[in-house]
Amino acid sequence: MSQTTSDAPVRRQRAQIKVRTLRTDRWWLAPLLTFLGLSAFLVYGVWAIFDTPYYVPGAEYIAPFSSPCLATSCPEGARLFGLAPFGDWYTLPPGLLILGLPGGFRLTCYYYRKSYYRSFWLSPPACAVQEPHGKYTGETRLPLIMQNIHRYFFYAAIVIGAILSYDAILALVHKPLGLGSWILLLNAVLIAAYTLSCHSCRHITAGRLNHFSRHPVRYRAWTFVSKLNAKHQPLAWASMFSVMGADFYVRLVAKGIIAFPYA
Ligand code: FES
Repeated sequence: MSQTTSDAPVRRQRAQIKVRTLRTDRWWLAPLLTFLGLSAFLVYGVWAIFDTPYYVPGAEYIAPFSSPCLATSCPEGARLFGLAPFGDWYTLPPGLLILGLPGGFRLTCYYYRKSYYRSFWLSPPACAVQEPHGKYTGETRLPLIMQNIHRYFFYAAIVIGAILSYDAILALVHKPLGLGSWILLLNAVLIAAYTLSCHSCRHITAGRLNHFSRHPVRYRAWTFVSKLNAKHQPLAWASMFSVMGADFYVRLVAKGIIAFPYA
């Protein structure tokens, strides 16, 4: 008589399928577009950080990749509250001082993690598509276990977002009819929306509460953040393109390439 159950541990294996995937749709399109979009951002970001800090005196536009400007090599009006805490001894590009904060925030973001694991590391490139790697350890070991510091980057991102909002308000006060002021404002709003839509932010607002009824303010904050959180992916892309666009626009105005009265 055959036996249908056994005490031996079940050894789980992946399905033994000879082809890489059985999918017939264009599953490769999303990782390809993600790869191109993130690569463009990386290339632009590195170029902008190593370029001179850009600032338009009078209009008080400061390129987002140059803000906050904390070194004496920054143009005087571009320095945050007129301060240059890093003094004369610091001679590297000023953008390098702050690069790690917004860069680390995006690098460790839950959405970006998914997107670059798929598009750069192909792990896996799409659902139901075999990955090229032999083993999978997830984010349980170094270096990927460091992704857990995302919540700390979130606090830094709040500060950077507040500074970009301050820059936009300063530009609006000095040049209310300037296109650049409105571009900087749109960028500040998108950056703020992306930052507040963060999963860590949602957890911080009310993640550990057992009774919403006892914490009505936190419940309202959580409800608002949850709505933004549902749009986290589009906000990640929109804010990424807006920060590049705003930065590039200010550079063009600062170089005199765009020079109409309402620039
Ligand atoms: Fe994306 Fe926090 S999860 S910014």
